[in-house]
Amino acid sequence: MVAIHGDHVSTKMRKVATSLLLLVLMEWWGTHGGAQATGGGKGGKWELLLNNSGVVAMHMTLTHRNTVLMFDQTSAGPSQYRLRPSGKRCTDDVYDPTCWAHSVEYDIATNTIRPLVIDTDTWCSSGAFLGNGTLAQTGGFGNGTRKVRYFNPCSDRRCDWIESEKLLASNRWYATNQILPEKDRVFIVGGLNAFDYEFLPKSSEKEGAFELPFLRQTYDRMVDKGNNLYPFVHLSSDGNLFIFANRDSILFDHHHHQIIKTFPRIPGDGARNYPSTGSSVMLPLEHEDVFRKVEIMVCGGSVSGAPRAAKRGQFLDALRSCGRLVITDENPEWAMEEMPGPRVMNDMLILPTGHILIINGATQGRV
Ligand SMILES: *[C@@H]1O[C@H](CO)[C@@H](O)[C@H](O)[C@H]1NC(C)=O
Ligand SMILES: *[C@@H]1O[C@H](CO)[C@@H](O)[C@H](O)[C@H]1NC(C)=O
Ligand SMILES: *[C@@H]1O[C@H](CO)[C@@H](O)[C@H](O)[C@H]1NC(C)=O
Repeated sequence: MVAIHGDHVSTKMRKVATSLLLLVLMEWWGTHGGAQATGGGKGGKWELLLNNSGVVAMHMTLTHRNTVLMFDQTSAGPSQYRLRPSGKRCTDDVYDPTCWAHSVEYDIATNTIRPLVIDTDTWCSSGAFLGNGTLAQTGGFGNGTRKVRYFNPCSDRRCDWIESEKLLASNRWYATNQILPEKDRVFIVGGLNAFDYEFLPKSSEKEGAFELPFLRQTYDRMVDKGNNLYPFVHLSSDGNLFIFANRDSILFDHHHHQIIKTFPRIPGDGARNYPSTGSSVMLPLEHEDVFRKVEIMVCGGSVSGAPRAAKRGQFLDALRSCGRLVITDENPEWAMEEMPGPRVMNDMLILPTGHILIINGATQGRV
């Protein structure tokens, strides 16, 4: 799964967040003679690359052209990147989203940013890379909620977002996308009030969305937005999909539309998915067993009432625990451990050089 989702920051927070700093942790430890960074760590140093990315990195992902694509919602007001669309009179009096860039491409080699044009609202949309390196980003808010957009990374810096005429079958706001082994087919699951999944592209004109009751069962009605949005999805080595929502997970056969296995509930109180937002990763596969064994790790999140408490100005601790589950085992059990500190979602990206790119401000407005 390509982790390119995020959350909105409130309008008030946005003013702070738009004056972003772009930071990179230079020289991954071990590559630089064991130099010690001040303040601990295993070497490396922080470097300010640019004072301003122009656009909030609500979504951020690395392309195969070694550029970083960032984009934000279009409905929250101006960014710090003005556009001058032809035939439009852009003034400061009325907010017109087309007068501002809501997406930028950062080029690692030249340390430069260029603005892109995005038409429909990508607020809490979701995406996946296709086999040819094109990003397919779907859904979002308002007029973006059933949209399909493509970005083909290019070397001449002239490519831009392409919005497709084909629409999704369901509204997808806070959904998750997973590329499938079938050529360039994407599995898109969940979203607010979307207890179903669909494929992109469809196998026939009349194919729609398929019900997934697991999403109703994991929706926490006591919590605004249910704690099962942006489900974690990973493609297992047997071709089935691991789907985790709230605290529960299943192994799902998308060819036959059936659940193959229900895994044990992850131990501990609290929820792991949006708006309690933890994160999940598939650990590296091992060639010794022909890439068969698949281990998933789920970390962080928050106690289930935390989003509501945050609205009252009461900030409960995020979860510290991480669970690992070998989903290819006959009877898997969660192996739990504690992180050094509690965590909710963060926008963080590992570059091909081993550097870690962090966009400041992305942690604001979180529960
Ligand atoms: C950021 O802004 C400060 C203050 O204007 C300036 O001194 C610094 O050189 C800038 N840094 C970069 C990387 O542009
Ligand atoms: C989407 O809505 C925004 C206003 O929220 C508007 O500026 C934009 O033109 C719309 N795009 C399309 C393709 O309808
Ligand atoms: C990659 O495949 C997609 C879907 O078939 C297509 O829309 C896109 O143009 C292709 N990208 C390139 C660079 O050929």
